[in-house]
Amino acid sequence: MAHYIGTPTSRVDGFAKVTGAAKYAAEFNVPGLVYGSVVTSTIAKGRIARIDLSAALRVEGVLDVLTHENRPTMADNDQAYKDDVAPAGSPFRPLYDGRIMFSGQPIALVVAQTSEIARFAASLVRVDYETDTHITDVHCQREAAIPLKPPGDPIEAMFTPPKTRGRPEQALAAAAVRHAGEYYVPIEHHNPMELFASTVIYDGDGKLTVYDKTQGVQNVQHYLCRVFGMKPEDVRVMSPFVGGAFGSGLRPQFQVVLAVLAARALRRSVRVVLTRPQMYVLGYRPAMIQLIELGANADGTLDAIMHDAITVTSRYEDFFRQETGWSGLLYKCANAGYKHKLARLDLATPCDMRAPSATTALFALESAMDELAVALNLDPLELRLRCYSERDQHNDLPFSSKALRECYRQGATAFGWDKRNPEARSMRDAGDLVGWGMATGVWEALQMPITVRIALSANGHAEVACATSDIGTGSYTIMAQVAADMLGLPLENISINLGDSSLPQSPVEGGSWIAASVSNGIATTADAIRDELLRLAKQMPGSPLANIASGEVTLADGKLISKGDASRSVSITDAMRHAAVDRIEQEKTYNPSNDVTRAHNTHSAIFAEVKVDEQIGVIRVTRVVSAIAAGRILNTKTASSQILGGVVWGIGMALHEETLIDHKVGRIMNANIAEYHVPVNADIHDIKVIFVDEPDDSNPLGIKGLGEIGIVGVAAAIANAVYHATGKRVRDLPITLDKLRL
Ligand code: MOS
Repeated sequence: MAHYIGTPTSRVDGFAKVTGAAKYAAEFNVPGLVYGSVVTSTIAKGRIARIDLSAALRVEGVLDVLTHENRPTMADNDQAYKDDVAPAGSPFRPLYDGRIMFSGQPIALVVAQTSEIARFAASLVRVDYETDTHITDVHCQREAAIPLKPPGDPIEAMFTPPKTRGRPEQALAAAAVRHAGEYYVPIEHHNPMELFASTVIYDGDGKLTVYDKTQGVQNVQHYLCRVFGMKPEDVRVMSPFVGGAFGSGLRPQFQVVLAVLAARALRRSVRVVLTRPQMYVLGYRPAMIQLIELGANADGTLDAIMHDAITVTSRYEDFFRQETGWSGLLYKCANAGYKHKLARLDLATPCDMRAPSATTALFALESAMDELAVALNLDPLELRLRCYSERDQHNDLPFSSKALRECYRQGATAFGWDKRNPEARSMRDAGDLVGWGMATGVWEALQMPITVRIALSANGHAEVACATSDIGTGSYTIMAQVAADMLGLPLENISINLGDSSLPQSPVEGGSWIAASVSNGIATTADAIRDELLRLAKQMPGSPLANIASGEVTLADGKLISKGDASRSVSITDAMRHAAVDRIEQEKTYNPSNDVTRAHNTHSAIFAEVKVDEQIGVIRVTRVVSAIAAGRILNTKTASSQILGGVVWGIGMALHEETLIDHKVGRIMNANIAEYHVPVNADIHDIKVIFVDEPDDSNPLGIKGLGEIGIVGVAAAIANAVYHATGKRVRDLPITLDKLRL
């Protein structure tokens, strides 16, 4: 029955992408389109005292310059600006007033006949500021960091640190072997390839079609309706293709607000494309200072875990995630304690970035576990096995499935871990020091309610519609695979319609939850299609499916077939033609079971090899094996790509990535992809991805999702390999030459 599910199906949108037929937000054209260019603040905190537009307005081709002083009306309450995933606080309102809350804040939009004219004129806007003192260095806010408030709503409750377990202080004091270390992860940025952009098509009667780069078209639509007091039927948000987002597109970003403001002010179609530097205030992975304390028994079992974290947020919103909770979840340990504080800085609010909180927390935890293994004189993999937990340690729940042991086993075998000499600096390859390190990864297996519509034609073609996004992860492809299997049709007979707010309800594409949600949504609706087809088939004279119950037939090879007797079947075409029906349409909502009796997680084991040039300290990550347990894998090709991308990003996190702020002026200094270093081809060598078998019944299709698990733990595995190679422990990312000092 599973013809396509589980196969390495190539992307169904691949041809459109490589030929340029796939259009992105900045590529939709309409006659009379005009262009907006954003002017941003050069101070980090204060007020605009005076803004002089005269020089900009004198440029030929400039149509208007919008500022907080002359913009059209927008909502004046926080609630209107709270998108579906907003943290607690008072969301940023672009061009709302003259207050400056971060450097790079949008303060004006120049609209002109061409983007070049707009950009030139934007350079002529003159601004005088009244400046306040700013703080942008998390290290200066350590003492002033504030504990998380008690949760005000269910979303905050989800991210509040778990309750203390046992007596961690006493257990730590009594432990036979202790390790304490402070770990630091700097601010990092998403840097998707596609620039953030919005093209707003203004049609005569004031209705808007908004092509936006977003991970959630309906989130943007709801937001625009509230901010501009528009009716839902007057705003349609489309995002058929997204060139990467990684969390930066979860919240509506300011370019869409500015483009809509301008379209409404000028009553014409407007495009706003951000520059790469302007994208550095859209959100970022918050920097995190983490103190990890571990107490172990002499036999290598854990007895105490303490995890204190300070993360960065803005002055106006409290962004945080489950930063400390991962430590208490992963390993068997009777005593655990957590503290989580927020350091308020004069920066834009951080946001989710691929496996938010787990990526940063597991760097610290898995580095600390490696250090504990050294202190215990134990193989790091053996330590993980001795601390292996069969239950969620927070809530003492079983896992719906947890094949992490198998990840360790298969990953270690593929890597050749048993040949590791435990001694640091003991392995060499010609002039290079060789290091082998490993780490564990963990993420959540979430699902969300979602609605899917399927329209089946009598010729055996089906159109699947859902407002979800494909941010490059491969949603189009897995949706087509699942629909083809569930409807018993060839893959090429399926068309997928997504990224359109007018389609059936979908959550934002995030949290790795779309694959499980939309696939089961398709299955749910396909069942309704099957039932309707059966009803029609039963009406045929002498129907071979008369008296058969709906659960006893399946759709395969273009036919309704009795499960018990494959000789009893009716083709889709015959059933529909006989009933004189051209099209069957069903729309159903999948509501995932709220199974709180078990924990639902994905896991990974990462093994990394580094070679370090002893003369100059250059680190190369020569091999990585990532073994993943993530339930049923829908598409081994796109799934491998997801994990591969996560590993590449983990290499970036370990060795390259760091957003640098000049704290004197409170401004990001490397807001571009020349100076914000990411791995390039020359940095990437042998990466092997293994999916271990992990049957799971958390949802009918057994899917867990894997958009995020691929990055978790990778930086720790590399840092641990660097220690093994060099004997130097770097707890402060990225691991650059200066920190290694060989
Ligand atoms: Mo993801 S960081 O929820 O896009």
